[in-house]
Amino acid sequence: MAQSAVLQLHPVPSTTSTPRSRRHRASAPFCRTRRHDSARPMASSTVARASAAAPPGLKEGIAGLYDESSGVWESIWGEHMHHGFYDSGAAASMSDHQRAQIRMIEEALAFAAVPDDAANKPKTIVDVGCGIGGSSRYLANKYGAQCCGITLSPVQAERGNALAAAQGLSDKASFQVADALEQPFPDGQFDLVWSMESGEHMPNKQKFVSELARVAAPGATIIIVTWCHRNLEPSEESLKPDELNLLKRICDAYYLPDWCSPSDYVKIAKSLSLEDIKTADWSENVAPFWPAVIQSALTWKGLTSLLRSGWKTIKGALVMPLMIQGYKKGLIKFTIITCRKPQTA
Ligand SMILES: C[S@@+](CC[C@H](N)C(=O)[O-])C[C@H]1O[C@@H](n2cnc3c(N)ncnc32)[C@H](O)[C@@H]1O
Repeated sequence: MAQSAVLQLHPVPSTTSTPRSRRHRASAPFCRTRRHDSARPMASSTVARASAAAPPGLKEGIAGLYDESSGVWESIWGEHMHHGFYDSGAAASMSDHQRAQIRMIEEALAFAAVPDDAANKPKTIVDVGCGIGGSSRYLANKYGAQCCGITLSPVQAERGNALAAAQGLSDKASFQVADALEQPFPDGQFDLVWSMESGEHMPNKQKFVSELARVAAPGATIIIVTWCHRNLEPSEESLKPDELNLLKRICDAYYLPDWCSPSDYVKIAKSLSLEDIKTADWSENVAPFWPAVIQSALTWKGLTSLLRSGWKTIKGALVMPLMIQGYKKGLIKFTIITCRKPQTA
C-alpha cells in the first residue's frame, strides 16, 4: 500500500512486465557490477539478508522507509533529499530552500576543492546513498561525468533512473540497489566519492569509510556530509544519558544505528592513510532546514501526502522537532569530512 501511494504521486513507468532481475540493475554499462554480484535486486523484504554486519532489520527498515517516503518528499521538496545550506542566521522562503539544497552540493565541492577545469575535473563519480539521484544528476551535468548511484531502496533506484531518462542523462547517471558496505564496484574506479547524508545510516563507520576509500581512484577526493554527535570532552567516556535518550528516539524513527563524532571520522580516515583530511561543523548553516520541513508538513498538501504515505513516514515526521532540539543543545553536529586517497599505495 505504501509503495502504491508513492507510485501514484509520480509517473514512474510501469514495471509489471520487467523481470526483477533486470529492474534494479544499473543501466549505464559503466556502473554495472564487476566485483561481485551484489547489484542483483534486493527487494525490501530481502535486504536484511543481503550481507555485512548490520543489526537485524536495519537495512530492511532503511529500504522500507525510503520506499515509502521518497515520493512524498519529492512531491513537496523535489529531487534532493538533504539539508539546505544557508548563510548563518538568514531567514529563508520555500523557493530559497531548494536553492539551499543545491548550494549544499556546491559548498561541499568547494570545501573539498574539487577541480572543475577540463583536465582535472572528476570524470567518474560514485554517489553512495543516492536517494532518487539528485546529486548524481547535478554532478553529471556539472562535470559531464559518469555517475553511479547506490541506495538500499528499490523505489529510489527506479525513480532515479526514470528521472535520468526524463532529463536525457541515462548514459551519464545510473542507479541501482546495493549496499554501501559492500559496494558492487572494483577497486580504484572513481575520481570523486560522494556520500551526502547517508553515513548516519551506516552500522559500521570503519567499514563504510574503508569501502569509500577502496572504490576511490588514486588521488580521488572523498566527500562525506553527515549527521554526527558532538565530540566528547577528554574527561568523558560517552554522551550524557539525556543526550543518548534523545538520539535513541531519533534513531528509532529514522532507522539509524549508533552515531559517531566528527573526530571519530577523522580517526578512521587516518587509520586508512587517507590524506588532506578536513572537517567543518555546518550546524549553523543548516538551522533553517528542519523548521521549514515541519512547516511544509503542516500544509494541506503535506498532511494529506503524509497520511497517504504510511506509518514509517509519519513516525519520521513526528520526531522532526527532536532534530531541532538536538541542534539547539549542541548535541547534533552537521558535519562535512573530506579527504583524498594517496596517489600511491
Ligand atoms: C537522506 S537519504 C540521502 C539521499 C541523497 N544522498 C540526497 O542527498 O538526495 C539517505 C540515503 O542513504 C541510503 N542508504 C542508507 N544506508 C545505505 C546502505 N547501507 N547502502 C546504500 N545506501 C544506503 C538510503 O537508501 C537513502 O538513499
